[in-house]
Amino acid sequence: MIKNCLFPVAGYGTRFLPATKAMPKEMLPLVNKPLVQYGVEEAQEAGMNNFGFVTGRGKRAIADHFDISYELEHQIQGSGKEELLSDIRGLIENNTFSFTRQHQMKGLGHAILSGKSLVGDNPFAVLLADDLCVGDTAGNGVLKQMSELYAQFRCSIVAIQEVPADQTHKYGVIAGESMKEGLYRISDMVEKPAPEDAPSNLAIIGRYILTPDIFEIIESTPPGKNGEVQITDALLTQAKKGCVLAYKFKGQRFDCGSVDGFVDATNYVYQNVYKG
Ligand code: UTP
Repeated sequence: MIKNCLFPVAGYGTRFLPATKAMPKEMLPLVNKPLVQYGVEEAQEAGMNNFGFVTGRGKRAIADHFDISYELEHQIQGSGKEELLSDIRGLIENNTFSFTRQHQMKGLGHAILSGKSLVGDNPFAVLLADDLCVGDTAGNGVLKQMSELYAQFRCSIVAIQEVPADQTHKYGVIAGESMKEGLYRISDMVEKPAPEDAPSNLAIIGRYILTPDIFEIIESTPPGKNGEVQITDALLTQAKKGCVLAYKFKGQRFDCGSVDGFVDATNYVYQNVYKG
């Protein structure tokens, strides 16, 4: 039902310097595939086929990755190596990729607003490619699980996971009333709270489904924590006007924006995907 997925990829990736000085963080490979391709594959698996990227300066490699490389493909044509490009070629042939720029880094809320023209007046997903998500045991990815919930509830949904108290300062943290196992109706949200200010231990991770009225709300959301336009603040407004759900997804998430999470994800992919 949801066809559009937005990828905010304008961030500087400072935690990976100097690797990210001239290369986008989203192109860092987990074994032999860049982070952003795992994200696109998850969105495609959820039935989406229109992918919009909010990029910034120095991010051209992402657009090149989702385009044909004639010279290279000609070079390896007929050799065993052709097979290595078959997945990415399938993605390019079966989906639409479009790009716009966030000219100034004014926060995730602002990045999403910058992508408005790429998704139009439709519900859409947002995927932060630096969170690698592995789905449930039946192989359903996190966005697929969320799309199914959207079909039922027709409102914005954020993915959450439990985090230790000393980690809440890294996330948006929610409070809400439990609707059923793993599903909450949000009543409060705080961006990057200190443990003593956190309303719970339920932290938002990089998967969202948003209804298009969010754009108007972001437009009137003032800069919040760290002087950035926070999607968390806009979502709290939306929650107070109507309904926003938080879903404790089934599966596993690796924070590939941090070096430790990236190494864990690399080991996981090597053992379970590349070798498995
Ligand atoms: P982060 O703050 O985790 O990513 O933003 P970063 O800035 O790239 O990384 P560090 O902290 O410097 O190492 C979360 C996501 O939101 C996007 C980033 O690209 C990342 O995917 N983002 C954030 C934007 O696209 N624009 C913004 O203004 C802010």
